Amino acid sequence: MSTPGEGLSSAQPIRHPWREVLHRARDPRFVADSALRVVMEGWDRVSPSEFSRLYRQVRTRTMCSNARLRGLYRALHYVVSRDIAGDVVECGAAQGGSAALMALTLRQLESRRKLWVCDTFEGLPAPSSADPDFEFADLFTGTCIGTLNEVRALFQRLGVLEDVEFVKGLFQETLPVSRIPQIAVLHIDGDWYESVKVCLESLYDKVVPDGVIQLDDYGYWKGARKAVDEFFEQRGIQAPLKRLDYSGRFLIKPGPITSAAEAR
Ligand SMILES: C[S@@+](CC[C@H](N)C(=O)[O-])C[C@H]1O[C@@H](n2cnc3c(N)ncnc32)[C@H](O)[C@@H]1O
Repeated sequence: MSTPGEGLSSAQPIRHPWREVLHRARDPRFVADSALRVVMEGWDRVSPSEFSRLYRQVRTRTMCSNARLRGLYRALHYVVSRDIAGDVVECGAAQGGSAALMALTLRQLESRRKLWVCDTFEGLPAPSSADPDFEFADLFTGTCIGTLNEVRALFQRLGVLEDVEFVKGLFQETLPVSRIPQIAVLHIDGDWYESVKVCLESLYDKVVPDGVIQLDDYGYWKGARKAVDEFFEQRGIQAPLKRLDYSGRFLIKPGPITSAAEAR
């Protein structure tokens, strides 16, 4: 039987892994976090826990650390257990791993919510001059490709295609006019300043109070962090960003809770 990563036209996630390692290795917190990640991912490859069993089904199709995937898993448990209304949205799917983890979690929780999966499905667009680490970031332009057919096939194989809607195109073109209604969990994994900025500008107001926003790249890409910090400052958002690992952060949106029952 084939494993999920086999046969992909685009299985190589990044073009210059050694340059990335050299660039990041200067930061001792990144080195320490990477060592911890190796240990934790080793554990999740053998552990009988519910999360680990889901993780094993997607791990070859994701660049997200297991700490960040666990963050998504917990976010879904959080909104479902509190009956918090809203869909689930992924901005930045690449080969579909983190989105599929969310779909598997929803199925495990028997929660019928729509999962929106947004991407170019043609790889990373170029960063812009607004990204402080533009020269390094630009090495990744065109990488992280997962075609729509590949991602759809993954969902089909895992048996979780039913409540999924794919939104293909640049966030700047698709998100401001999307039909996405209220959101319970928003996962932003778009790497660049302009990408993260448009996700927040288009979708933050759709996240219900007490919904969860997970930011994959806050500690990793300077443009992503800048977009988040600017947006929070403009909006006067005081809620603390909580740390998942070196890169990932999440926020529980402040405000009164709307239960699914109230929203009906
Ligand atoms: C790091 S990858 C996502 C990784 C994925 N969540 C996983 O599980 O491996 C970033 C993705 O964001 C997408 N992306 C970034 N900026 C975008 C934009 N402006 N419009 C559409 N997609 C974008 C890229 O195409 C790429 O697939």
